Amino acid sequence: METFKSTTSLLLLTLFLSSTVTQIFGVKTQSEALGQFYKAKFRHNSNIDKSHFTHDFDDQDLKYLHNKKTVVSQKENDKIQKLPGQPRVRFEQYGGYVTVDESAGRAFYYYFVEAQRSKDSLPLLLWLNGGPGCSSLAYGAFQELGPFRVNSDGKTLHKNKFAWNHAANVLFLESPAGVGFSYSNTSSDVKIGGDRKTAKDNYQFLVNWLERFPEYKDKDFYISGESYAGHYVPQLAHTILYHNKKANKTMVNLKGILIGNAVINDETDTRGMYEYFASHALISDELEAQIQKQCKFTESSESDECKLARSKAEYNTDPIDIYNIYAPLCHNTNLTAKPKKPSLVIDPCSDYYTIAYMNRPDVQKALHANVTNIKYSNWQPCSDVLTNWTDSSSTIIPLLREFMTNGLRVWIFSGDTDGRVPVTSTKNSIKIMKLPIKTAWHPWYLSAEVGGYTQVYKGDMTFATVRGAGHQVPSYEAARSLSLVMHFLAGTDLPDKHN
Ligand SMILES: *[C@@H]1O[C@H](CO)[C@@H](O)[C@H](O)[C@H]1NC(C)=O
Ligand SMILES: *[C@@H]1O[C@H](CO)[C@@H](O)[C@H](O)[C@H]1NC(C)=O
Ligand SMILES: *[C@@H]1O[C@H](CO)[C@@H](O)[C@H](O)[C@H]1NC(C)=O
Ligand SMILES: *[C@@H]1O[C@H](CO)[C@@H](O)[C@H](O)[C@H]1NC(C)=O
Ligand SMILES: *[C@@H]1O[C@H](CO)[C@@H](O)[C@H](O)[C@H]1NC(C)=O
Repeated sequence: METFKSTTSLLLLTLFLSSTVTQIFGVKTQSEALGQFYKAKFRHNSNIDKSHFTHDFDDQDLKYLHNKKTVVSQKENDKIQKLPGQPRVRFEQYGGYVTVDESAGRAFYYYFVEAQRSKDSLPLLLWLNGGPGCSSLAYGAFQELGPFRVNSDGKTLHKNKFAWNHAANVLFLESPAGVGFSYSNTSSDVKIGGDRKTAKDNYQFLVNWLERFPEYKDKDFYISGESYAGHYVPQLAHTILYHNKKANKTMVNLKGILIGNAVINDETDTRGMYEYFASHALISDELEAQIQKQCKFTESSESDECKLARSKAEYNTDPIDIYNIYAPLCHNTNLTAKPKKPSLVIDPCSDYYTIAYMNRPDVQKALHANVTNIKYSNWQPCSDVLTNWTDSSSTIIPLLREFMTNGLRVWIFSGDTDGRVPVTSTKNSIKIMKLPIKTAWHPWYLSAEVGGYTQVYKGDMTFATVRGAGHQVPSYEAARSLSLVMHFLAGTDLPDKHN
């Protein structure tokens, strides 16, 4: 009887939840992708493989683009003259496809912006968004750290003053196949994804991209990303280390990784989320205690008590933007005839401006995107075709340890107003690594303000918060995010006083 009652109320709650704010517009955005994925991952009898990540291929499997002549002319073809509605800039942009599997006909779309100045002396930085299934063009390039953001008219762009190409040559990749403009001619490829397949394809992409841009081969290379890219970034880094070792030479000159509001370790991440909800007055302390007690967060099957408690939490958090708990919602997804005056903090309706822009034929032409007339979908910020994710390791901590042993720079940052992969999750996940502290917790500064807080661990790993930023840190705290990435790339500590 008790079970029946709780199941019924669960059902009612679920029905209620499915009609609230986040879902009324019929497009999947980054704010839904991760939550939906986690529901699938922890569903009873989920077939998702949660074992530790290992590379699953050898050098022989790699296909290099050998013909140097066509490779170099391909680079010239990829040069973007000017994007529609773009303000004038003084750096080069490229966009195009790199084949990752010839027999399947699988190709990844990239967008590359060279540094605003001193491109020859600045490193190469790859940025990946998460999801799984979300596009690095949708978020990274056009709403976060790229040089442009889309205006509310959906057809013109404005400059992002704090773009990360002030610090590096920045490469954005839509991955895996089925995301954004990245496609496959084998239809099953775009439906089935997974961590291992993604790491393999990302590595193949990188090796072939470096053949097309050989001047970047010897440069210092860094990988960055947020959210579910907490899996992609370390898994690609691991694959690079593996192949460098196997070949006994530096195939890719990887120096470090930078991950933000990143999925690291399922149990601590999830417990930390409820800790954040309670400590930020979104749910009651009693409900948090119930969730921490009833839920295991380690196995697929949870008790009905756990499910009911979690759905009560959702009832409280669903009406707000959990990815930035203090941000306004988007109440009108319509474009405006004239661009609204852009502000430093991202407009909550920016997803819709970006969707309109990326689906314009003139924009796709200028970007050299969708050259094969992708039929199965229009361009979406998060894929609605990639529905079957086969493997997702429960933790990436062994990979972080591996990087520290191999002398890679590891930085983990956290926007402190994100409720989805909040600062409490990241702190708890780092805590279980039991690392000795090198530099104790202290505020870090930018322009006489506290930019956030940081603690450096021996070994070397840096943890840093970004004060006032949500899940997509550069969207909310652009200047602080640029300062953070500059210190990361320079390998210097965040400043403990203002000057
Ligand atoms: C996919 O098919 C189209 C049309 O046949 C072709 O032009 C394109 O080159 C193929 N893509 C790859 C990566 O082989
Ligand atoms: C790896 O390369 C170095 C020189 O670059 C050489 O001294 C060493 O013997 C090589 N190791 C193996 C296992 O081939
Ligand atoms: C958005 O545009 C549609 C179609 O033009 C219109 O019917 C609707 O009222 C608009 N919504 C708002 C909130 O202005
Ligand atoms: C590609 O272009 C075709 C029209 O030629 C369009 O129908 C389709 O939605 C586009 N696909 C993407 C992913 O943009
Ligand atoms: C997902 O893909 C796997 C691997 O190809 C397959 O075995 C499984 O049946 C698929 N599941 C669904 C729901 O399509």
